Amino acid sequence: MIYYRGHLGQKKLKNVLIENFAAVEIIAAKRDSLVLTDLQIDWVVDAYTRGVVADEQMSALAMAILLNGMNSHEISRWTNAMINSGERMNWSMLDRPTVDKHSTGGVGDKITLPLAPLVAACGGAVPQLSGRGLGHTGGTLDKMESIKGWRASLTNDEMLKVLQETGAVICAAGAGLAPADKKLYALRDVTATVEAIPLIASSIMSKKIAEGTSALVLDVKTGSGAFMSDPKKAGELARVMVQLGKDAGVTTRALVTAMDVPLGLTAGNALEVAESVEVLAGGGPHDVVELTLILAREMIDAAGIRGKDPETALKDGSAMDHWRRMIIAQGGNPEATLPVAKESHTVVAASTGTITTMDAMKVGVSAWRLGAGRSKQGETVQAGAGITMHAKPGDVIKAGDPLFTLFTDESPRFERALQVLEGAVTIIEGGVAQQLPLVIERIVQ
Ligand code: URA
Repeated sequence: MIYYRGHLGQKKLKNVLIENFAAVEIIAAKRDSLVLTDLQIDWVVDAYTRGVVADEQMSALAMAILLNGMNSHEISRWTNAMINSGERMNWSMLDRPTVDKHSTGGVGDKITLPLAPLVAACGGAVPQLSGRGLGHTGGTLDKMESIKGWRASLTNDEMLKVLQETGAVICAAGAGLAPADKKLYALRDVTATVEAIPLIASSIMSKKIAEGTSALVLDVKTGSGAFMSDPKKAGELARVMVQLGKDAGVTTRALVTAMDVPLGLTAGNALEVAESVEVLAGGGPHDVVELTLILAREMIDAAGIRGKDPETALKDGSAMDHWRRMIIAQGGNPEATLPVAKESHTVVAASTGTITTMDAMKVGVSAWRLGAGRSKQGETVQAGAGITMHAKPGDVIKAGDPLFTLFTDESPRFERALQVLEGAVTIIEGGVAQQLPLVIERIVQ
């Protein structure tokens, strides 16, 4: 029966009821492990973006997808529907190939900062649309915003100008890019449905494909500090994303990399910018340098660029030159002193021996509690908050040697930050470091 209410025309009301019916049918189909049709997928993603499918209906569907999965065709169609919910960027006017990197996020993962100007120095154009941190992993935009004057929000024309002038741009994705994902990701966050591989893969790849890059390298993190702690699951996610890239005509490769130990010697916004600048100056911790070079070579190769070797570009100052130009083009001052937290506290080693493990998750949560990250969208972060590590797995230290220095603007934060660091490090006399290899798996189309 069709009920008539004054403010809705009969035809419109009928459509609303039919649309609601369709949503229930689609939820029931996935609940019963059926394969969704192309039309069902196109409609449900579009109708959710338009507000016709309600949050509670999409929550039920997301849970059914988490429990019963999707086949590769369904995932590809779902990704396309998310791309089609918004604009698709186009960089065909550039005189160099576009290539981007996406990391699933980890503790101390500042690689995008040196990588984007480095690949630009080697001949690529890097349109790096990035996000803010939520929870224990930092966000690239939060890190970059610790540079005085630097602007994350650019119009599409401004993005193009920065890319043309400097070969790399790091900025926030505009509201027009995959709006279906923005809505769905926020919903998944509060309905315990983030962990579904079809939903993670389509969420990441819809944004990267809509961004218009012609080549893409995925850095899928695994280990205690990653949201895919199981290397097998991380590999599965990487394979699904590489296939989605292939289906969309984007040359896509993935590396599954270690996130059981924090990357580098810093976790926190300004601290990580300083470490990235050290890498661009030809120094920096060896794991950050190594991963930056591995990813740069993979990006250059995927984009078919035959330019300068990335190691040369770090040594001869050309990567640093691109970094400075990129910062200035976005209103920042690369010479400005980075913010420093008001308070600091150093943790020392309780015993003598070799550091065998350092738990990335504990370090990440501690940095977050110090004020480096946010616990809900919209919160401000402290630029100077975070942790520096004085030693890493494999290093031999003595009792009383400094292990970590914690930084924050608000000293009451130390207590909870220190609590979570308890047990973060294992020290064994004559012990051997136990950590995942930096690159665990490589997946090429
Ligand atoms: N990052 C995203 O963009 N989406 C996800 O679903 C998970 C991580």
